[in-house]
Amino acid sequence: MAHGHKPDEKVVYVGDSRVRKGKGFIVPPDYTAYPGKSEAFIPNFLLKEWMVGVVVLVGFLVLTISEPAPLGYPADPGASVIPMPDWYFLFLYEYLKLPYASGDYVVLGTLGVTGVAFGALLLVPFLDTGKERRFYKRPITSALMFLSILAIIYLTNSAWTHYTHELEATGQKPEHIDREEKAHERRLQGLPPVSNAKSAESDEVAIVDPENPAMETLKKATCITCHGADLKGQGNAPALRGVGDSLDKDAIAGIIKNGKGSMPPMHDQAIAAGVSEKELDQLAEWLASQKTAE
Ligand code: HEC
Repeated sequence: MAHGHKPDEKVVYVGDSRVRKGKGFIVPPDYTAYPGKSEAFIPNFLLKEWMVGVVVLVGFLVLTISEPAPLGYPADPGASVIPMPDWYFLFLYEYLKLPYASGDYVVLGTLGVTGVAFGALLLVPFLDTGKERRFYKRPITSALMFLSILAIIYLTNSAWTHYTHELEATGQKPEHIDREEKAHERRLQGLPPVSNAKSAESDEVAIVDPENPAMETLKKATCITCHGADLKGQGNAPALRGVGDSLDKDAIAGIIKNGKGSMPPMHDQAIAAGVSEKELDQLAEWLASQKTAE
């Protein structure tokens, strides 16, 4: 045998393994000591691992190329949402709402508790050195594990209950669920589901000539604070898309000058904000050109 083992040396193995029982640190014998029974990690074993890895990787590549990830619908900045993490982070999300993990105690919550928890995880190999492997014979470790699992289940559940209650209280429906339900209804009626945003947008009034400098004037004159940057209106300010259907240039110029209903006169304010008379005139003209397509 290699490495100068005395042939008459009594070798004691640990359990079933081929690792010699030694004093102190276990030094595994060289694989060449067991011809035909073992193999070198480098290169034999590593090469096998790599080959399996390459096959899996190529499989993934083929899948990603043949089935490109679909684009979701465009984000709607106007939609009201309750931001929520993915389900596997719900427990952390809920945990960070606890009084002693947030507010004045946020350092304790984010660094202190998690530091202790993950520090303890790092120390497990040194703390939990017993030989026993059955979990019911390792009360402390098992108790900690079950406690953590219970806490995670509890926190996840309360996060989700809280979320659904909040949705109900505010009468919201998450956008993706709303879309799914609408698509389902359409499918029941035999219509193609509106799965992409383009067809959903097409029954809206489009902005005519959105490249016009009047768009800038609209911003400068702060019209968009009430009528919305997308001109879809908000609150009691009506949409300005298609406004040219009912109002001509003079009427709009009059509204800018004198206001209308709860809209204050905007003329002087716009001039003070650096908008020129000419720009206001062009704005009125451009708004009057906002007509629905048909
Ligand atoms: C403080 C909020 C506010 C601002 C700022 C504002 N508007 Fe208005 N606007 C309204 C409201 C509210 C109405 C609806 C008035 C009514 O009919 O009672 C309205 C109505 C209008 C109308 C008539 C729309 C229709 O269909 O009857 C036009 C045109 C209009 N605004 C243009 C403008 C322009 C141009 C600006 C910028 C110079 C501007 N608004 C700034 C709140 C605002």
